[in-house]
Amino acid sequence: MRKNCVFLAIVFAFTVLTAAAQVKERPIPRLVKKDGRWALFVDDAPYFILGAQVNNSSGWPAALPKVWPAIEFMGANTVEIPVYWEQFEPQQGRFDYSVVDTLLAQARTHRLHLVLLWFATWKNGNPHYIPGWMKLAPERYTRVVDGNGVPADSPSPFCTPSLDADSKAFAALMRHLKAADPQRTVLMVQVENEPGTGGDLRDHSPEAQKLFESPVPADVLKAMHAPSRSPYPNWQAVFGRDADVCFHNWSVAKYIGQVAAAGKAAYPLPLYVNAAPGTERCAVLPVPAQPGAPARYEDGGPSNNVVPIWKTAAPALDMISPDDYATDSAGYLRALDIYHRDDNAVYVPETGGSPRFFFFALGHQAIGFAPFGMDFTRIKAIPDAARPKDELLPPWARTGTKEFVAPFAPTYHLIGPMIREVARLNFEGQLQAVAEEPGKVAQTLRFGAWDATVSYGVWARYGRPAGNPQPMGGALVAQIGDNQFLVAGFYCRVDFRPAAPDRRRQFLRVEEGTYANGAFKFLRLLNGDQTDGGLDFSSEPLVLRVSVTTY
Ligand code: DGJ
Repeated sequence: MRKNCVFLAIVFAFTVLTAAAQVKERPIPRLVKKDGRWALFVDDAPYFILGAQVNNSSGWPAALPKVWPAIEFMGANTVEIPVYWEQFEPQQGRFDYSVVDTLLAQARTHRLHLVLLWFATWKNGNPHYIPGWMKLAPERYTRVVDGNGVPADSPSPFCTPSLDADSKAFAALMRHLKAADPQRTVLMVQVENEPGTGGDLRDHSPEAQKLFESPVPADVLKAMHAPSRSPYPNWQAVFGRDADVCFHNWSVAKYIGQVAAAGKAAYPLPLYVNAAPGTERCAVLPVPAQPGAPARYEDGGPSNNVVPIWKTAAPALDMISPDDYATDSAGYLRALDIYHRDDNAVYVPETGGSPRFFFFALGHQAIGFAPFGMDFTRIKAIPDAARPKDELLPPWARTGTKEFVAPFAPTYHLIGPMIREVARLNFEGQLQAVAEEPGKVAQTLRFGAWDATVSYGVWARYGRPAGNPQPMGGALVAQIGDNQFLVAGFYCRVDFRPAAPDRRRQFLRVEEGTYANGAFKFLRLLNGDQTDGGLDFSSEPLVLRVSVTTY
């Protein structure tokens, strides 16, 4: 009997060890830069986060049954989902990993990756996700105060007890991920959420005031190319009307930089902070197109004018990432231009608006893109009788419904199966992507010996582009051989022209295909009406492999 027990114990131990050994430890995701282009490497190869961010309260196990069906319907490969400090540390120093473990297990079941959003000291400038034990001690876990000492609903970046607590909790989260996620289900972690303080406010606490009146640190002066003209270069003297903004950003960045560093020391996943839709003014980095009165700030969040301050003050953050909610093409592209820098890979952790913006992001070598509010937690539609006009509804009043998720599904279902190839070609500099902009009916992409023309609103075989009734077209074109291209898109026509003026193009072979297991699978050849006027892309997902030659 005793012998049997020993034998069973050995078999059990062996089984457990074998199971653990079977979970292969994969390479840690990392950002890689080559020739000025960035990629997120997952399993040692470029990856693109075809993402979806869930609603703020959808990271609870009870909500997950309404998350996964939406993600599947949409076709995303990665879900951005919050981890709430108030849940994670219900009592000081006692960490509850159960929800994170549920997220890991269910994401794996659904063959999805995760980006975790650490909702902690800041969530949209507020401290609403700090644990209850902190909320009950407001004199210890302090808030920003105005010039009269009145507290705002925003955490003070000078509060050492909050910084210590957040750093410890974040390190605990990252340590747990390191142990619990050898599969690298989690690709990256966002530290805080849209930090800052609404309403142009910086902290006026005595400690903050003292620093505000002290000289600006040399690294900030250097990063902002700010000459220290004054004999006593404090923040006011150096930054003038932008002094509060620059100072508050430096304070918040220092704080978040320390939280990030604590997490990174535990587990070096890529970390980023997301910027609330930016402001457009700064004396030091002027925007000539926007003279006049100062704009209002989500002050202290990494808006476009202070990215260098963040880079200096928070080096443990890999990226400063714009929440790009611009609804117009010019505004959307401007945010991508600003945050795509030699020292900053561009990632769009929140977005809305048109699905064609995906092509804008891809065309700017983004490492990922994630529309916000993608789950079915609010399946009920607003009753017609109570429905305000659409233009009166902010986007987040419509999130969480099938109607809201649906517009992204065709793009994601087109790109999803070919995403690793797309990410590789983009990283190698072989891919270009464009989307329709008002007033631009055609765009030319140059590929050495060939030009590709993407035109919009061409409805007749030899018709001229007139633009779609509203901008909705988008395409990617990648050169996969000297005379061969991969093309996919919507609501546009793509054609090729030899760069040599005395030659004309003829299609050698236009293959319609589909992607299976990452490889192009031939379905049929297109010819005749399907190619004579150019290659037409409409509402249906379509991938073509096009071989061209000249005569
Ligand atoms: C931006 C925030 O980062 C999100 O968490 C969410 O609050 C949306 N705004 C709007 O609902």
